[in-house]
Amino acid sequence: MASEQFEKHILCIGAGYVGGPTMAMIAAKCPQYKVTVADINPVRIKEWQSDVLPIYEPGLLEVVKIARGRNLFFTTEISKNIEDAEIIFVSVNTPTKTYGKGAGKTADLQYWEKTARGILSASTTDKIIIEKSTLPVRTAKAMERILHTNDKGLHFDVLSNPEFLAEGTAVADLEAPDRVLIGSRETEKGRKARQAVVDIYANWIPRERILTCDVWSAELSKLVANAFLAQRISSINSISALCEKTGADVSKVAHAIGTDSRISSKFLNASVGFGGSCFKKDILNLVYICETYGLDEVAQYWENVVKINQWQEERFVENMGHAMFNTMAGKRVAIFGFAFKADTGDTRESPAIYVTRKLLEEQARVVVTDPQALRNAKIDLSDVIDQVEMEPDPYKAAEGAHAIAVITEWQLYKELDYEKIYASMEKPAFVFDGRNILDHHELFRIGFNVYPIGKPSLSHL
Ligand code: NAD
Ligand code: UGA
Repeated sequence: MASEQFEKHILCIGAGYVGGPTMAMIAAKCPQYKVTVADINPVRIKEWQSDVLPIYEPGLLEVVKIARGRNLFFTTEISKNIEDAEIIFVSVNTPTKTYGKGAGKTADLQYWEKTARGILSASTTDKIIIEKSTLPVRTAKAMERILHTNDKGLHFDVLSNPEFLAEGTAVADLEAPDRVLIGSRETEKGRKARQAVVDIYANWIPRERILTCDVWSAELSKLVANAFLAQRISSINSISALCEKTGADVSKVAHAIGTDSRISSKFLNASVGFGGSCFKKDILNLVYICETYGLDEVAQYWENVVKINQWQEERFVENMGHAMFNTMAGKRVAIFGFAFKADTGDTRESPAIYVTRKLLEEQARVVVTDPQALRNAKIDLSDVIDQVEMEPDPYKAAEGAHAIAVITEWQLYKELDYEKIYASMEKPAFVFDGRNILDHHELFRIGFNVYPIGKPSLSHL
């Protein structure tokens, strides 16, 4: 469809968990703009063009369908669309670097830099470039340098507009965000570019929720928001260990402290550990930046959030071993949930990966069940796939098992018939509830030995 029919052409490079949903929402809310989402991965693009989207996100297909073919387009043709668009969001992946300086901590910016060079080579007019990916502070400056080493006389404004959506609730988060943050330079061109981005969001988001600031503060705010959220989980998880030793109940402690409005009740659910592609990556990025500036105490403070999370995962498997008479060899264990949280098929950094691998090391027979994440689970476990059974039906997964380990808080696991499950399992039967979602007293009544997180265990033994 010709771009002339539209007020603006917005391009997003990177059609992943962020690029796809954010652009679908912009297109659905703003029919006056042409929105194109481009990616180097042709399989992903084909899936975005179909009714089986590449990511599972409740409500997303409905939003996509409002705009797809009208003003929302998915393509692998990147250069042509760069040339045509006035505003380019960049939402490519920024994983932790695995090689060279900063390996294991800082972000690998190769995809971002390649994208910047691609933008430079395909551009014939000035553009507004928007960092949607999460990036280290001052990346925008480096990108501006790359983009301005051109002899075409072109000008690029690089802005930061970090994304705060959470998977599983992406549609609601995009429809009514707590805030949208736009960082720009305080130059005449910077202010004009900022207004152009504000104008997009103002189509459906109240103006007072659109915050503006300088580029570096926007970049840092994104890392800090994730660090604070993750820190709350590690804090309550550290207390869960103390609860297990003292006989206190972490849910009651979380409730009691969460009713203090200064603390608030959110992100205080003790768990087997936080997963997801971003918390660990972004905290380690923050840690690296602090180290770079010689702020070693600050770096260590935040690194401990990641360390406690790792320890929590380890503790979970160790507790399983202790409860099951210090041997897992030959025992069938059903992993209930492989996604890193409910309502997504995403398994990146899911605690289920660690738990499964550790159980395999102990020679347990592991069966994984999940309503949405088995496709990704097979990829994550590809090197040990001959040792793992994948079973979509939780009842079949539990059949003949010695233990169930709940790793993802899927609603469906709360609604299963545990009498039936108990009857089909080996005895003594164990439940390790890594999310504290089940009715522990009812399970105990049925006959299970129940091990929650941060609460006294309920054992018949
Ligand atoms: P993703 O891996 O799902 O998607 C990234 C996409 O970029 C992939 O489809 C990949 O093929 C594509 N890509 C890579 N290089 C490219 C190139 N040169 N040209 C075109 N396409 C290219 O990643 P994601 O989860 O969408 O995350 C993207 C960024 O957003 C990251 O920086 C992440 O930290 C941040 N973020 C993610 C979330 C989330 O919930 N997943 C939330 C907020 C912010
Ligand atoms: C998180 C942030 O919430 C988003 O604001 C941010 O945009 C995103 O990271 C990102 O930058 O990628 P997400 O990882 O999708 O979103 O999901 P969360 O709801 O934050 O959950 C992260 C992990 O913490 C999950 O494994 C979840 O189960 C766990 N969690 C969460 C707990 O263990 N306890 C809680 O109380 C809350």
